[in-house]
Amino acid sequence: MTPDLTFFHISDLHFGREDRGALQWVRDAIALEKPDAVLITGDLTMRARTSEFDAACAWISDLGVPVTVEVGNHDLPYFNLWERFTDPYRRYHAIERLIERELGFPGFAVVPLRTTTRAQWRWPWVDGWVREPALAQTLAAIDALPAETRVLVTAHHPLPERSPEGKHLTIGGTRAMAELARRGVAAVLTGHVHDPFDLVQETAQGHLRMIGAGTLSTRLRSTPPSYNRIELAGSDVRVAVRNREHLATPQVQVGEVPSGPLPGETAAIA
Ligand SMILES: [Fe+2]
Ligand SMILES: [Fe+2]
Repeated sequence: MTPDLTFFHISDLHFGREDRGALQWVRDAIALEKPDAVLITGDLTMRARTSEFDAACAWISDLGVPVTVEVGNHDLPYFNLWERFTDPYRRYHAIERLIERELGFPGFAVVPLRTTTRAQWRWPWVDGWVREPALAQTLAAIDALPAETRVLVTAHHPLPERSPEGKHLTIGGTRAMAELARRGVAAVLTGHVHDPFDLVQETAQGHLRMIGAGTLSTRLRSTPPSYNRIELAGSDVRVAVRNREHLATPQVQVGEVPSGPLPGETAAIA
């Protein structure tokens, strides 16, 4: 069945520790296949340095297709705490219009959900937090769409609140997942853990598809640099993981949401 829409879901570029070969590989595929959009689920930079943002913005700005960008925990100013609290998105200036923006297509929409926060009541800041106003904004955007619109939600952090081992992941994720499932969201697309996955999460309001993209940086977890090609065909959402070692999708997808962003990554990296 010919897809109605094709998206590239890419994540965790981490300019400063980017994999230039992987970035060129994705850029070539975008130029060749011209997906309907590129959905970037955060962590554009390593330390939110101005030079890293400049490189990320230059790379994103001339992809030649519609783009939406989520904010990752690595994209909040780390060295400059004043800026982190007063103007955390200033360094995004060059691609400001692409940040957390909704994309619309006939019968279909991509709606952002913010999971990053400038600070939270517990360390580490690396974890996600779906604050009430952010969830309300996302739900209002979904509720304003025409009935029967199929929706993909984009966010940086995977939404489960705890890993299978009980470690904290994303505060407020349980309620967010239930509300998104209640609205029949087709899938939630995220990054942060640097390994791809495609899971069905049970919620109090029914099933919710959770799709994670890998990384295009040298900060590998257990799988090679990769991105997801997502096809929408009728009510189907088809996911193919493309990675640089020519492994089939099932060989690189993890079976559960990992408990942290990277092995050995500490709170100090945030
Ligand atoms: Fe990351
Ligand atoms: Fe992250």
